[in-house]
Amino acid sequence: MPNKRVSQQTYKRRRMVALAVIILLLIIIICLISSACSNKSSNTVKGKSTISTTPASSATQPFSSVSTATSSASQKTSSTVTTTAISGTLPDDGSNVQSIELSFNSVTLSIGESQMPIVTMGPDTAEDKSEKWSSSDASIASVDDVGNITGVKAGTCYITVASVNNPRVYAEVKVTVTDSASTSSNTSLSNTAATNSGGVTTIQGIVIANKSYPLPQGYDPGLDATTKSQFDALSAAAAAEGLNIYLASGYRSYSTQERIYNNYVANYGQESADTFSARPGYSEHQTGLAIDLNSIDDSFADTPEYTWLVKHAHEYGFIIRYPADKVSITGYKYEPWHIRYLGVDTATAVYKSGKCLEEYLGINSQYAN
Ligand code: DAL
Ligand code: ZN
Repeated sequence: MPNKRVSQQTYKRRRMVALAVIILLLIIIICLISSACSNKSSNTVKGKSTISTTPASSATQPFSSVSTATSSASQKTSSTVTTTAISGTLPDDGSNVQSIELSFNSVTLSIGESQMPIVTMGPDTAEDKSEKWSSSDASIASVDDVGNITGVKAGTCYITVASVNNPRVYAEVKVTVTDSASTSSNTSLSNTAATNSGGVTTIQGIVIANKSYPLPQGYDPGLDATTKSQFDALSAAAAAEGLNIYLASGYRSYSTQERIYNNYVANYGQESADTFSARPGYSEHQTGLAIDLNSIDDSFADTPEYTWLVKHAHEYGFIIRYPADKVSITGYKYEPWHIRYLGVDTATAVYKSGKCLEEYLGINSQYAN
């Protein structure tokens, strides 16, 4: 009997020990799981912290503010210029895009009106800075391949630009489309003081010649050397892609323009001539900063050369000066062949603004009589 009692006690003790071991194992397993979870979440934070965070107080400083966000709700209500990255982005070794800044992150447009934010991708050394644009609701605002946002119907939606190289890095613009004729918008430059030197008007450092701003008859600079060299670079870049962009008409003196214009007036009447040919003293060709390309006719718009030009002209400092949708502002019919040299920075800003030069500078183009 005593032996049996001892063995029962031993059995009971062994059960207790086994139970204790099991509980201990369970505790260890729970600890391991929770530690794994906390490591995972701190990795996520680490991934996100590669992009700097800007406090709300600097929200009014576009270009300099970059914020990260986990919840799409918070980034959409943020008034900062927003760059968002989530964990799993490509390595921050200088070759991949890690940030996107926009010149504005909210805009109000009327129906049919367009705006284009300036996009800055970082770091500078990133190899592929191409952009992929999309709209959360294209029935409210559409966006094209280069980021030109157009109001379609009243409402609010979001336009997103993502890095093609690193698609998890993106930024958003909140777009409000109103029914009313609008009052947009954001970063456009105001009409700052024009200076007039010897009859030549310069606005924001840009020599201007249009129906409102004539040049003196004696202004005779010839084709600007930088305009010519930048055109040569443009033409060479196009040639490298098998395209032929050539200069058909560059600098034109007052007297040459007079002959051309008078010829048009004789053939088509003054009213018609004024829609496509500048009066002597009013032609941008007299500035030495404008060039007509290739066939100088509407068919140029259907060529691959023109498609290339639309995409790349600003990279060489040129804009397409008389766009199809700005006829009532420039005062001239669509001229796909006429480019104007502004320098790379200004041409890029004008191009990305979606505006013609008159809109960009806040000026008119109308003859006084
Ligand atoms: N065709 C442009 C408007 C000019 O004559 O200058
Ligand atoms: Zn021209």
